[in-house]
Amino acid sequence: MKIVVLQGSPNSRGSTNILVENFIKGASVKGHEVIRFDVSKMSILPCLGCVACGYEGPCVQKDDNEIIKKALLSSDMLVLATPLYYYGMSAQLKTVIDRFCSYNYSLTGKHLKSALLTVAWNQDDWTFEALVSYYKTLVRYLELEDQGMVLGYGCGNVSMTKHSKYPQEAYQLGYSL
Ligand SMILES: Cc1cc2nc3c(=O)[nH]c(=O)nc-3n(C[C@H](O)[C@H](O)[C@H](O)COP(=O)(O)O)c2cc1C
Repeated sequence: MKIVVLQGSPNSRGSTNILVENFIKGASVKGHEVIRFDVSKMSILPCLGCVACGYEGPCVQKDDNEIIKKALLSSDMLVLATPLYYYGMSAQLKTVIDRFCSYNYSLTGKHLKSALLTVAWNQDDWTFEALVSYYKTLVRYLELEDQGMVLGYGCGNVSMTKHSKYPQEAYQLGYSL
């Protein structure tokens, strides 16, 4: 299966990256092809809301989003990876999701499998409530097929994350596919 990972942290070597790398290792062992995009390093402009695309057509913004679109429309699975920023996903990742607008129907029609990888400083049981709720709403609306979530509680920096159980959980999620 072809898997696209959208890595939404600006820290390419941070905690989100640790989960992503472990997920990719697990998925690769099972023979899956994984394409990773560090979206904060790409030129992705925000959706202008002009709807010139009609929710399915060329976007007026000419940037790296075209690369992500091509990859996603020829893939079988979408993985959203993000640090928790004020209880939601990073703005960098949300910007890519808003740009789904111009290929909304082709994306929905693919019925992609999906997963969520995320890390946060906090450990409270409500830490990921809002993000999980949003992810589940995306799964429903985009007609995705959720394969699992890794919610990294108490993963505030690289050391905390390395010593947590979550890298292994991410590996297992990849390996389970
Ligand atoms: C702008 C910003 C907002 C954050 N908001 C939250 C938050 O709402 N809850 C939380 O537990 N941690 C929050 N954090 C902490 C990060 O989620 C945490 O440090 C994470 O490990 C960063 O991942 P990274 O190394 O991949 O960038 C925030 C960090 C930043 C920089």
